[in-house]
Amino acid sequence: MMKLDSTQALLKEEIESYQETVTRVHKMIHEKTGPGNDFLGWVDWAETYDKEEFERIIQVAEKLKDKTNCVVVCGIGGSYLGARAGIEMIQGMYPDSDKEVVFVGNTFSSTYISQVLNHIKDKDVVVNVISKSGTTTETALAFRLLKQFMEKKYGKEECKDRIIATTDKARGTLKALADKEGYETFVIPDNIGGRYSVITPVGLLPMALMGIDIKRVMDGLKDAYNDLNTDDLKVNDAYRYAVSRRILQNQGYNVEMFVTYEPQLTMLGEWFKQLMGESEGKEGKGILPDSATFSTDLHSLGQFIQEGNKVLFETLLKVEKPTLDAVVPNDPENLDTMNYLAGKNLDWVNKMAMQGTLAAHVETGGVPNLVISLPDMSDYSFGYQCYWFFIATAMTCYMLDINPFNQPGVEVYKKNMFKLLGKPE
Ligand code: PA5
Repeated sequence: MMKLDSTQALLKEEIESYQETVTRVHKMIHEKTGPGNDFLGWVDWAETYDKEEFERIIQVAEKLKDKTNCVVVCGIGGSYLGARAGIEMIQGMYPDSDKEVVFVGNTFSSTYISQVLNHIKDKDVVVNVISKSGTTTETALAFRLLKQFMEKKYGKEECKDRIIATTDKARGTLKALADKEGYETFVIPDNIGGRYSVITPVGLLPMALMGIDIKRVMDGLKDAYNDLNTDDLKVNDAYRYAVSRRILQNQGYNVEMFVTYEPQLTMLGEWFKQLMGESEGKEGKGILPDSATFSTDLHSLGQFIQEGNKVLFETLLKVEKPTLDAVVPNDPENLDTMNYLAGKNLDWVNKMAMQGTLAAHVETGGVPNLVISLPDMSDYSFGYQCYWFFIATAMTCYMLDINPFNQPGVEVYKKNMFKLLGKPE
């Protein structure tokens, strides 16, 4: 399904020389003995997930299908990025659909929320508010505005059908609020952290509300779980990728640029940045994750990558088959001189740009490239790549003796902000 090509990664160590470490860490992950082992629920989630709740997600989405043309998802970080990455990857940026999705609760920007409320005022709205803690300020504030908007538009009674909360099974203010207002609720499992939670109702419900076949997402997840349940570095490409990252950091590369050639994967890059950055960036260690969408960003960042400070390596996610293709038309006048491409598929042009860039960056620029190929941007592939990157993240972090599942540093800005806001103790 997903393959790693490290032939252009300019590695100075053999990946296989890490077999012993990989075997040890693989055991730690699967036997749940490493730091943060309370948060390894995602490992066998493809088998252990709550099947009844999963069916309820499908039923709720089905029930609301004809009642809405606008799904508003309210959440931030792990309660936001995965759902958005999945929806955009699977449906593209302008899908042929009568439903749109709008994301709020991921910013304090007053302009943003005001414009959203204005934009959705005449639409048939359904809201999914997502927060594990139930206390995240960005989400709670946006939801307060949204709740008032919804109650004014529909009345409290109809809001019971139109607002769904995804939160902790028992704790937190959102759970209490949802129970009091009579909203349908879905559970964020205790043993899965925010950035690994897209495979739970956190990601599955927004995807289902947008008409995505979440059974196929889970099929992909399960196949990846089975395919990657081996410590053998000759066959486990997710582990080969994790080891390659460690080798590249040993060679002095402290920045990883996650590159795609599809605008609908831009948010996957954002999701990847949280997954890797929040998992690995602690105790003064880790590789800074960055992301770029080519060829767009070749016209801005390309110069730096080619000739700038040699701080980075690239991880290219290469999609074999586009969701849609288009053919360059012939133009008898040829005023734009583009007729030499007439009759060619645009995806072929995209692939040639990729090939040329790879050679420019690796051979001329000396920038290492890890190339991961993905067959397509389907629901199944989304589920598959989630597990692939989860297990690679756990491996790469444990190889550094880092707990991949906590994020103590995130609290610092919140403490300062709460003091400035005068939040009661
Ligand atoms: O990964 C994380 O822990 C964070 O990104 C959280 O997901 C984010 O802060 C949202 O938290 P919550 O779901 O509690 O609102």
